[in-house]
Amino acid sequence: MHVIAVSNLKGGVGKTVTSVNLALALYERGKRVLVVDLDSQCNATQYLDSYDSSKPGVAEVLLGKPPLPAEKAIRTTSFGVDILPATFALIGATSAIQQDTLRSRDLRLWHSLTPLADVYDYVLLDCPADLDVITINALLCAHTVLVPIKVDRFALEAMTRVFEAVESLKQSFDTHIISVRVLFTVDERVSANQQVKEMVESALPHGRCFSTTIRKSVKVVESTLQNSPLLIYAPRCVASDDYRSIAEELMQA
Ligand SMILES: Nc1ncnc2c1ncn2[C@@H]1O[C@H](COP(=O)(O)OP(=O)(O)O)[C@@H](O)[C@H]1O
Ligand SMILES: [Mg+2]
Repeated sequence: MHVIAVSNLKGGVGKTVTSVNLALALYERGKRVLVVDLDSQCNATQYLDSYDSSKPGVAEVLLGKPPLPAEKAIRTTSFGVDILPATFALIGATSAIQQDTLRSRDLRLWHSLTPLADVYDYVLLDCPADLDVITINALLCAHTVLVPIKVDRFALEAMTRVFEAVESLKQSFDTHIISVRVLFTVDERVSANQQVKEMVESALPHGRCFSTTIRKSVKVVESTLQNSPLLIYAPRCVASDDYRSIAEELMQA
């Protein structure tokens, strides 16, 4: 099982679109894939057309007394991948975890996902736009941290903070992180963007950026409005092709 935490402190950079469509691209390549929605906004759950507040989700897994086993909350989707869904019960989970001193705070997700090690090839963790205890739980499960960056003026700063967080976690915990990699999303291929990309690439060791970037496509926004992943809604659009290339890059790593 290879766990990929999709994380950036900034919102609106393509974390959810990437988690879901990369999951689909890996599934198309024959992999067994789970998406874990860790954001109380539940966007990944909605995008996979799986929102149902009457059923348990990741909140019960992280907060239940006793914790609900993950397999009891995981559901199949009609798109081939499985989801450990979020519900709005996840709002306030951060402070609930902080206040519950009887259980480990940072390794809850790790304990919940370990029994699934033989069930899935890839697990994608769609993180909130925050560096809270939920994101720490995700980073402590991750083998790869994937940092989506929407190419703009503030891209470098947000990215640097994720890299710093990973470094400081490595000093306090035995992490499983093998690599931290940047993915440029919503790429318009204009020259100003090219400058930002070059800045980011030169600030990082070689090979930290995926060589594929995700091109901007109106189909992405349309697919989110339809609650249908891009690879299903518009399988031939440029951004779908790009997510397939990212899946290949990941599988080769
Ligand atoms: N390749 C793309 N082309 C055009 N729009 C995109 C692309 N990727 C993401 N978006 C749009 O950007 C917005 C933010 O994406 P989202 O995945 O929800 O970000 P996050 O999870 O980081 O908050 C959404 O409206 C989405 O439709
Ligand atoms: Mg999101």
